[in-house]
Amino acid sequence: MGAPTMEPMCGIVGYVGPRDSQAILLAGLARLEYRGYDSAGIAVIDGAGELDMRKRAGKLQVLRDDLSAHPMPDGTTGIGHTRWATHGGPTDANAHPHLADDDKLAVIHNGIIENFSELKAELLSEGYTFRSETDTEVAAVLLGREYQASGDLVAAFRTVVSRLDGAFTLLAMHRDQPGLVVGARRNSPLVIGLGEGENFLGSDVAAFVEHTRNALAIGQDEIVAITPAGVEVTDFSGAPVEVEPFEVVWDASAAEKGGWSSFMAKEVSEEPEAVANTVRGRLHDGTVTIPELDGMDELFTGIRRIVVIACGTAAYAGQTGKYALEQWTRIPVDVELAHEFRYRDPVIGEDTLVVSISQSGETMDTLMAVKYAREQGAKTLSICNTQGATIPRESDAVIYTHAGPEVAVASTKAFVAQITALYLLALHVARLRGTISVGEQATHVRELEAVPAKIQRVLEEEQTHIEQFSHWMADTQSVLFLGRHVGYPIALEGALKLKEISYIHAEGFAAGELKHGPIALIEPGQPVFVIVPSPRESAELHKKVVSNIQEIRARGARVIAVAEEGDAAVLPFADEVLRIPLAGPLFEPLLAVVPLHIFAMGLATAKGLDVDQPRNLAKSVTVE
Ligand code: AGP
Repeated sequence: MGAPTMEPMCGIVGYVGPRDSQAILLAGLARLEYRGYDSAGIAVIDGAGELDMRKRAGKLQVLRDDLSAHPMPDGTTGIGHTRWATHGGPTDANAHPHLADDDKLAVIHNGIIENFSELKAELLSEGYTFRSETDTEVAAVLLGREYQASGDLVAAFRTVVSRLDGAFTLLAMHRDQPGLVVGARRNSPLVIGLGEGENFLGSDVAAFVEHTRNALAIGQDEIVAITPAGVEVTDFSGAPVEVEPFEVVWDASAAEKGGWSSFMAKEVSEEPEAVANTVRGRLHDGTVTIPELDGMDELFTGIRRIVVIACGTAAYAGQTGKYALEQWTRIPVDVELAHEFRYRDPVIGEDTLVVSISQSGETMDTLMAVKYAREQGAKTLSICNTQGATIPRESDAVIYTHAGPEVAVASTKAFVAQITALYLLALHVARLRGTISVGEQATHVRELEAVPAKIQRVLEEEQTHIEQFSHWMADTQSVLFLGRHVGYPIALEGALKLKEISYIHAEGFAAGELKHGPIALIEPGQPVFVIVPSPRESAELHKKVVSNIQEIRARGARVIAVAEEGDAAVLPFADEVLRIPLAGPLFEPLLAVVPLHIFAMGLATAKGLDVDQPRNLAKSVTVE
């Protein structure tokens, strides 16, 4: 038996209704392809009552081409899947759906079934056979066995999911029960879309937003059965449960590329809007009030510590936000990688607010850290960009960033929206605790309001320049990024973005750390980006960073400075200067990161790489 293939992050769509489902499933999968893109498949129950299935390794287009070349009968009940596997090859056999019960039953799955080998051994001993290495096929075969016993798909499904350990979203349909798709979730996303005489399931609302903006969020350990006539949600024991309706706040075009060369290009261009939409409705007469946090004043005045947990880019947003949170609220803040947090017995309790940051709201490392924090008695607040996602549902409160759907694997507009949300939180809490004057609040609110137009200027004035020199740098082997204070997490973000989409070695350092080691890396021609603090706002830091630049320049570094307009001190030492508009020191990162996003994209494009779907990565990682 080979290593099992497991599905950390897959796109899932289900449909029942009067329309032929293939086009609906394929369009839904196209919108979900960011979730996984190493194989894809669909199954439908056709007009003759047969179950037809097609699945192919490779991107969704491979499946589309196959279906065009060899059409498959269509039908009004269907499920579809795009996959991203960590173990085992992305082969046709391992792609979903997986069939069972003499190919009358189809199952798709996201997540990991941890006890799949015990279940498989049980089924093998009973004479069942398997065609793939996946844990998913074990669930399919088990469901086939249970269906044979009961003849009731929902009851059989209930029995099966109760036996599964791990994280999963599972969808199933059976040839003998057309017009019915069943689904279940545990620690993995699944939402319902409500149509007129038709209903949908999706791993997120992108799966069906083209058809309906009315959605229902399914809770942990719940089962849903959709038919054209309605939707029934129960817990794993079959007891009915209340589901939470919500309206999707963006329309289908928001998740489309439009005329852009890539989703990443579109999303970088949307950075001004992401900030503007995140502050909208939360600024009132020079103060910040977050309506979602109504009734929680006591919590915010009572806490003594804040711990921010997140992964990757979201963690860098947390590190940036720490400066404002501490400065404005005077509450000590720690920022931790979510996957490290719960393995080191952290000191947290009832007076700790644990703030999680996640674009997707599904990152398993972050979700598990939130659950751990709750178990320890801490209060939890989620900063999230995805409605109906798991992390906000597992938290005491949520501040949604309104960046709109982010499809490219590299997070860009969500990053600036996350920092914005943290600043809003900091100002909200500072107002409640009286740690900031009315005048200061008004100044910061004005700064926040001005950020979108300033980002827009960076895009308009620097994009072409950056694209040109990133083109000349296509053969670069390594790039370093330096920053200080809030420029430090921005340096880390610049390096991560470059690694992830251009596959170039990149490191971010605190500029003050240079002499403690990293300066040994500098040799003639080494490109180094330096985030230069404002000489007006932070004269001392500015001087220090300029002398860092001189030190690396003296050793032959090729310096690319990201500096405030009018800062002439950098000119003699920089090979390129990327200008950002004047802003208060805490607001500079929202501007300084934009050239770094454009640069990463420019370099990856110059290398001919797919910037939206970089190798080995998925949009969010729904396993630990
Ligand atoms: C960012 O460009 C990355 N793809 C990645 O670091 C990401 O930010 C991280 O995995 C966290 O994802 P989340 O915000 O969806 O939790």
